[in-house]
Amino acid sequence: MGPADLQAVLAGLKGMSLPAGYSGFKDAEDVGVVPLDAENDLLFTADFFTPIVDDPYAFGAIAAANALGDIYAKGGTPLASLNLAAFPAEIGPEVMSEILRGGAEKAAEGGAPVVGGHTIKDREIKFGLAVIGKVRKGEFLSLGGAQAGDDLVLTKPVGTGILATGLKRGLLDQPLIDTITALMTQLNGDASRIACDHGATAATDVTGYGLLGHLGNMVRASGIETTVYFSKVPVLEGALNLARAGHVPGGGKANLQYAEAFTTFVDNIDESERLILADPQTSGGLLLAVPASQTGCLLAKLEEAGYSAAAIGTVGAASAEGLIVVRR
Ligand code: CO
Ligand code: CO
Repeated sequence: MGPADLQAVLAGLKGMSLPAGYSGFKDAEDVGVVPLDAENDLLFTADFFTPIVDDPYAFGAIAAANALGDIYAKGGTPLASLNLAAFPAEIGPEVMSEILRGGAEKAAEGGAPVVGGHTIKDREIKFGLAVIGKVRKGEFLSLGGAQAGDDLVLTKPVGTGILATGLKRGLLDQPLIDTITALMTQLNGDASRIACDHGATAATDVTGYGLLGHLGNMVRASGIETTVYFSKVPVLEGALNLARAGHVPGGGKANLQYAEAFTTFVDNIDESERLILADPQTSGGLLLAVPASQTGCLLAKLEEAGYSAAAIGTVGAASAEGLIVVRR
């Protein structure tokens, strides 16, 4: 659901509090945190959605990579997963098996083997995982640590929401389908470890609220301002053309409307370009704030590990224009 709608729903829970040491949705964090022992916290998260590619195995793998993403975004290590599945009665057991197999293999690759789950009948296929992980206290990558002078680094290109819309409308050729499938099944685990090694001060993953929505959460939690340079943001081939032709998911428009309350666009960034920055991502990359002295080494290590990462902006440039300024 969209960010504004979700805020309205959660407002109904504002009287509820958590025991000491716990944290969760009130901080707009990616995961729930549960104290475990003197050194470690447990991390809890869940994610599921309807198919975004036709291949059932690939869909399962994408859903799993996406679910593990919230553990990685916090510097955590996934430990185990549960399937969350809804299947229509009329689809065959082969399709269901392939979805579960894709999910189980990807979860195992990420170190969080599937140990169980729950399946219901539903009109539309839905699949995802609940994931448990752990993080050493003090190594948790919060949203709120970004410092003036840091660089913003994004570890995957954006545009999968628009391309998935194009795919549903039969507008993508097979090589492009293969490209986005590979991107969405790529785990953020190595990126997370590299980010921790380079002193990342804040992190989140870019998912349903798009780059601007998730950056907005980081900016608010950190109490800083940022500048994003559109020309530096890695964008998937074909996404801008599809956006210009109107093939944009409904969620992207809602995201943009939400983000415009805290974002100032200068240098004639047009509507389609704005929609790229608000595009809802599935299994998107990590968005990191890192000390500028670390950026070069961080980017080199990310490239070595197979990520198409880029430094896309700077933190804390004093600006009267708003929390996020987007320049060309
Ligand atoms: Co997240
Ligand atoms: Co999530």
